[in-house]
Amino acid sequence: MENFNELQREILRLKGEKNALILAHYYVPLEVQDVADAVCDSFAMAQKAAKAENDLIVICGVRFMGESAKILSPDKTVLLPSLDAGCPMADMVTPEDVLALRREHPKAAVMCYVNSSAAVKAVSDVCCTSSSALRIAKKLDCDEIIFVPDVHLGSFVAKNVPEKKFWLHPGFCPTHHKITEADVLAAKRAHPEAVFAVHPECGEDVVKHGDLVGSTAEILDFARSTEAHEILIGTEGEIVERLRRELPEKKIYGVGSSFVCPNMKKVTLRALYECLRDEKYKVELPDNELKAAKKSLDQMVNS
Ligand code: 13P
Ligand code: SF4
Repeated sequence: MENFNELQREILRLKGEKNALILAHYYVPLEVQDVADAVCDSFAMAQKAAKAENDLIVICGVRFMGESAKILSPDKTVLLPSLDAGCPMADMVTPEDVLALRREHPKAAVMCYVNSSAAVKAVSDVCCTSSSALRIAKKLDCDEIIFVPDVHLGSFVAKNVPEKKFWLHPGFCPTHHKITEADVLAAKRAHPEAVFAVHPECGEDVVKHGDLVGSTAEILDFARSTEAHEILIGTEGEIVERLRRELPEKKIYGVGSSFVCPNMKKVTLRALYECLRDEKYKVELPDNELKAAKKSLDQMVNS
């Protein structure tokens, strides 16, 4: 406990007192990750929320992550430390968009990326994360798939599942979309020995240079297990920081000048402390939405 600062110690005290489970995404500040029970990518976060035994679950991440935890564990109290930490990509698609796509392509199943609202999940057939998208698309008993909202992850899946026809919605993550092929080529020129691990939320021109294309947790596993001593990371900056701390014997480089998700950074230690102290902000969802969304999320977690 002696390495924790005062706020972190208070958080750990409140966590024990209230028997809360704290799940943090890898993009929130490291000092917040350090007090969590588990640090996860989106898939692991959903799985852990579904299995949680604690009555109180705190999701250190953006809103759709809190909503997913509530949908998977509807009888638990789920808290989000920052009310305005949203995901701009999730906001790019509405249930009406999905219903319009369904009308246009009536034979297609709707697969929605977990980075979407509960209302969008409620009108989708199955949900996926970046680590489960390929597996789920291959298994889906349908020759046509409408994929929402991420055009980049959708293109990556479509390319790797050529036996199916894909209809893509044009959403994107502003943080990952900002990285260009020129940024990657410049980073490769600067570090010619480095291998490149990239998130599929980046554009096709960036992803095509990846030695590994995978979710946040897959990128971390690759960095830990590769024999290469220099690794170029094509995802959010906190991953670069985490790997530098975890693997001091390797050289870890980021791509581009600022690869930051501003929403994840709203989940500060202070926000987490106040969240536990005041038991705010509770995630609440309309019952019908929650039940409908649960079907597509349950399928994802059990896939
Ligand atoms: P992961 O599934 O890799 O955790 O990605 C979540 C996310 O929001 C990436 O931008
Ligand atoms: Fe959303 Fe992008 Fe932030 Fe992930 S990194 S939460 S997709 S805005």
